[in-house]
Amino acid sequence: MNVRPMRVDDLPGMQACNLQNLPENYTMKYYLYHAMAWPSISFVAEDNKGRIVGYVLAKMDDEVPEGDEPHGHVTSLSVLRSYRRLGLAKKLMQQSQEAMASVYRASFISLHVRKSNRAALSLYKDTLGFTVKDVEKKYYADGEDAYAMHLSLK
Ligand code: ACO
Repeated sequence: MNVRPMRVDDLPGMQACNLQNLPENYTMKYYLYHAMAWPSISFVAEDNKGRIVGYVLAKMDDEVPEGDEPHGHVTSLSVLRSYRRLGLAKKLMQQSQEAMASVYRASFISLHVRKSNRAALSLYKDTLGFTVKDVEKKYYADGEDAYAMHLSLK
């Protein structure tokens, strides 16, 4: 298994992986927006045949008020079921974090996660050190609340 920066030709594989793993799905235009605007902070995990088995899709906040420091945002992260618990999500997240800090001088990273998502919460809190900043009521289309989480990069 190999984790490497995303390329534009990975986008269909990333979209297919997202569709299998999460109810939050995006248009190809939105994937392309990430790839064109912030090409170096999204990553994929591929198997030995080059098939996409996981990805992290990340962006920088494009509406930073003047004087505020730039920060990164994880739009979506997922790993195909049969490739889970191998450390791939941890690797994807860490590589994205490092790129956000070194390429864009991001001071922190934000993301949203469902309150009921035990696996992702454990990854973010216990493995990566994110903290809960806020609860956003009915953030998801089905009415579930989200935790807004932050990780300081300082
Ligand atoms: N239960 C409890 N803790 C878990 C679990 C689980 N099922 N999965 C991962 N963790 C925690 C553990 O602490 C684990 O360390 P350990 O294996 O040494 O105990 C640590 O996270 C790292 O695990 P990884 O192997 O790196 O995680 P994995 O590659 O399996 O991917 C993920 C985790 C992305 C949450 C995966 O389960 C998945 O794709 N789930 C469905 C999609 C999803 O929920 N994505 C996140 C939505 S939020 C967002 O996109 C911003």
